[in-house]
Amino acid sequence: MTRHFLTIFDLSREELLGVLDRAAELKALRGTPAHPQPLQGKSVAVVFEKASTRTRLSFEVGIHELGAQPVTLNSKDTQLGRGEPIEDTARMLSRYVQGVVYRTFGHDRLEALARCATIPVVNGLSDKFHPVQLLADLMTIRQNFGPSLEGVRVAWIGDGNNMAHSWIASAAVAGFELVLACPPGYQPDEQVLAEARARGAKVRVVERPEEALDGVDVVTTDVWASMGQEGEATERQRAFSGFIVDDVAMKRAATDAIFLHCLPAHRGEEVSASVIDGQQSRVWDEAENRLHTQKALLEWLIV
Ligand code: CP
Ligand code: NVA
Repeated sequence: MTRHFLTIFDLSREELLGVLDRAAELKALRGTPAHPQPLQGKSVAVVFEKASTRTRLSFEVGIHELGAQPVTLNSKDTQLGRGEPIEDTARMLSRYVQGVVYRTFGHDRLEALARCATIPVVNGLSDKFHPVQLLADLMTIRQNFGPSLEGVRVAWIGDGNNMAHSWIASAAVAGFELVLACPPGYQPDEQVLAEARARGAKVRVVERPEEALDGVDVVTTDVWASMGQEGEATERQRAFSGFIVDDVAMKRAATDAIFLHCLPAHRGEEVSASVIDGQQSRVWDEAENRLHTQKALLEWLIV
């Protein structure tokens, strides 16, 4: 059966930990003759309807390191950008390549691609979820606090957006404790929360950062205006006033707490330069871990 990776909910806990274990192995083997090339002779398409730096780089490099050829398509210079249906794109891609990574707006477009494709589909970010980022974030947490994710306490400070939803799904699958501080009007999707809670997630949503931060192991945030919301930037800056992760906020967390951010970041808005560039920040390990975790994911999905 063809498996897809559209949200973290698509994996069992055992599968998630298996991908993270394999990512650590691939990191250790990187650059050595023992590094495997399980996708030799294959091709994987990486399709973008939104901007990207890390997702493009990490998938292109990772696909190449697994022995396959990455084929990157930007919608604006393909027929997708001229209105070719996503369903037809899925059928066509399935005849050429062995997997597809897709970054788009509406999550329904990813679901339509997966429904009509006969190859694995990976969510490279939608308006609702960014699950490949969470694989990297969870790998980074394990590098700092050990392999068991249960018992780790995470605070999300900011918008109830695609990253927040991915943290919520991850709390359900991995079993860590999550508190999200989101201002009224910017709270996470109730259905995502309900699905996570139905799977046993320990998740709370509060309205102020001070209610979320005490003693946590991980503090994380994201931009206040995501891709496609640029026109709301000014009203969002007002709504998120007081939500900056700065030194005062980090002092509420555990003394050995780490700071994560999927990037790109806006210093002086959601995070201070002193925090993102400071001792507790792990954002560069986190960005690197995109490569290792996505290689493990693609190997698991395609081989
Ligand atoms: N974090 C992340 O997905 O970065 P890009 O938008 O640069 O791909
Ligand atoms: N929430 C952000 C994440 C970027 C990687 C966005 O969707 O733009």
